[in-house]
Amino acid sequence: MAKDCSPLQSKELREIRAMVDRPLIFKGILSAVDAVKAVDAGADAIVVSNHGAHTLDYLPHPLQVMDEIVAAVGGHTVICVDGGFRRGSDVLKGLAFGARLVGLGRPILYGLAADGERGVQAVIEEITGELKRLMTMTNTPTPAHAGKHLLVAF
Ligand SMILES: Cc1cc2nc3c(=O)[nH]c(=O)nc-3n(C[C@H](O)[C@H](O)[C@H](O)COP(=O)(O)O)c2cc1C
Repeated sequence: MAKDCSPLQSKELREIRAMVDRPLIFKGILSAVDAVKAVDAGADAIVVSNHGAHTLDYLPHPLQVMDEIVAAVGGHTVICVDGGFRRGSDVLKGLAFGARLVGLGRPILYGLAADGERGVQAVIEEITGELKRLMTMTNTPTPAHAGKHLLVAF
């Protein structure tokens, strides 16, 4: 999918980069074209994200575009992903697709709504525990060892 999804041009991204005197992360990347624009502008990291799919209908899920983005970025910036990740197994899939970090939005908010700080803590512990268990079961000693070999394509 060679699409330029960002309303911002490369020149504008470079201007933003020049204005920000600290690490800068571009979020909402959903195509190789946008990922390359972010890298060229000097992004310290990108977040492959459809913002939880509740801003625009019919956006691709981030995992549908991860392969093209990982290939286009070629290790030149840190890739994070979010959107629809709910369980430890989801997080492991995100890592397997090449993300260094997998973000959780609504699960944290649900924990907060259910039981405040303790609810947030419980959600984090549940998902982290699941992730650790799955990493053990799949012989994945660190997140960096996660890869496509963990996935089965049908
Ligand atoms: C209530 C709410 C408000 C959000 N507001 C923003 C926002 O202002 N800017 C943005 O980039 N993403 C926003 N997001 C998206 C989150 O940053 C994140 O990408 C998303 O929640 C991840 O998907 P998930 O909720 O399925 O884990 C919002 C999400 C929620 C639930």
